[in-house]
Amino acid sequence: MSSLAVKHQAINLGQGFPDFRMDEKLVELVHKAMRDGNNQYVHMCGLPSLRERLAAKVKDAYGTTVNPDTEITITPGGTYAIYTAFTTILQPGDEVILFEPAYDSYIPNIEINGAVAVPVQLEYPDYSINWEKVKEKVTAKTKAIIINSPHNPTGRILTENDIEQLRLLVKDTGIFIISDEVYEHLIFEGKAHLSMLRYPDLFERSFVCFSFGKVYHCTGWKMGYCIAPDKLMKEFRKVHQFNCFTCNSPAQYALEEFLGEKEHYLQLGAFLQKKRDHFAELMKATPFQPLPSYGSYFQLYSYASVSDESESDFAVRLTEKGGVATIPVSAFYKTPVDNKVLRFCFAKKEATLEAAVNRLLSFFEKQR
Ligand SMILES: Cc1ncc(COP(=O)(O)O)c(C=O)c1O
Repeated sequence: MSSLAVKHQAINLGQGFPDFRMDEKLVELVHKAMRDGNNQYVHMCGLPSLRERLAAKVKDAYGTTVNPDTEITITPGGTYAIYTAFTTILQPGDEVILFEPAYDSYIPNIEINGAVAVPVQLEYPDYSINWEKVKEKVTAKTKAIIINSPHNPTGRILTENDIEQLRLLVKDTGIFIISDEVYEHLIFEGKAHLSMLRYPDLFERSFVCFSFGKVYHCTGWKMGYCIAPDKLMKEFRKVHQFNCFTCNSPAQYALEEFLGEKEHYLQLGAFLQKKRDHFAELMKATPFQPLPSYGSYFQLYSYASVSDESESDFAVRLTEKGGVATIPVSAFYKTPVDNKVLRFCFAKKEATLEAAVNRLLSFFEKQR
């Protein structure tokens, strides 16, 4: 959709990245780190002082003590952390349960390890988890379950009941949890992020994956980290050591210092909620119907009242004729499911959102 957006000079509300500038102070801190000569490899597991800072943040946010020496590894992005976690645990023939619609890297990551992806569909229209369906998918070969909250593409978040059900599901099994928490701070209405780090019985079997790109509006930096109990992290690092070995040094020095200013990540939910609400207000003038978004960069909108076209046909037409690119939610399924919903990324400047909605209005006007 992004290539199509470029071809048709469409406003790209498809791909999940901000079009506003990141914090200049963090940019300056990277420059400073480079000028100070911090340009050589740092420790294989990440700059020790950055890992210490992250351990303090985790304690603060989730009340959990993690050991920065043995339980945190800095990675080139959240996707890499997820891939490395899969590669650490999977053997050919293993099965991994995942929820669809799903972030697009999960299934290829599972399959490249010779394992089998076992999708469970979230229940439309609230995208809740039907735990009975999940239980039916568990077999002797189930090696892991991957969860993602706040969720891309739906903006759904895990509830306490989900945590309880997950707990019952994995109790007395060897099932690992890979928890994709890249949107941990992009959560709205003051809701709490139910990180696996909060629950000792779940954390003991978890690889919890994060992204600095999502927190600091610098997705192009591809910086993230994984937190896992020491015995799991020891194995994770064996894969990491001979794949990437170590990540960008100046960025790590800069992030270490910037993380000390908590307000930058603590105000993120409110900042993005404002964008979500501004976009939703503008969208009221269009025939699109919103589905709830509790977190992430995204909100889904239904066009069922105006067209029977498939999601991909409608999204392509909207890009080509309407000048606005979105992502059809069917693209997040192995076997496409078509509920007539599109994903919009609202992590954009107000002017971008306004220009996009004006284009949508003229698109629908021309349909009449
Ligand atoms: C659910 C989810 N996980 C992981 C990532 C990737 O994070 P990173 O850019 O740090 O690899 C994304 C990015 O869109 C995402 O939406």
